[in-house]
Amino acid sequence: MIHNQYVKEFSKSDIDINFFVELGTQWITQDWIDAPAPLALRYTDENVLQVKDYKYLQDIRDKHPKLKDFIKLMKFEPGQLPAHIDTQRDCTFNIPVYNCNEGTLTRFFKNYTPVKEKYLESFGAHGPKVWYSNEYITYIDGGEVDFEYSLTSPVLMDTHTPHDIVNNTNDYRLIWSWTYEDSFEEALQDFKNGI
Ligand SMILES: [Fe+2]
Repeated sequence: MIHNQYVKEFSKSDIDINFFVELGTQWITQDWIDAPAPLALRYTDENVLQVKDYKYLQDIRDKHPKLKDFIKLMKFEPGQLPAHIDTQRDCTFNIPVYNCNEGTLTRFFKNYTPVKEKYLESFGAHGPKVWYSNEYITYIDGGEVDFEYSLTSPVLMDTHTPHDIVNNTNDYRLIWSWTYEDSFEEALQDFKNGI
């Protein structure tokens, strides 16, 4: 199990993983699957799922009230999502849904420069070549990879450190992202006895 300054990994058996897998595969639509990266992210934001509508999710949130009252389904197509800082959250609880294996890496960066525009030579991605920082995301230039992992189990993850996603498979990857409204360090304390 990974446990460092960026990621705390849990076992799949620590949660009802099938609940999250079924929920995700029911929630995604064909339009969403076919959508290029920017549009897919818009579907993510426009189709959040309310925690209160699902008893199992509400039970988890009752134990960890700093988890947001909604969860988001995120699709990552083959290719790369540029390195960025999440500006409106410092931590997330991420849960694998579909095609979550060693073929996709999340990489954390150090020694970087925040930038307004990010030019990316995409490889096989349908996404744009130039990405613009916005109210949710600040892109970075330079930087060295300090740590990388593949999301194969539920994790708490630091989203304040720049991170990118490289999907080297030929299929999309699907995850649930549940924002934690405090720091990664606080979340570790909160989850020290499990989920
Ligand atoms: Fe992010």
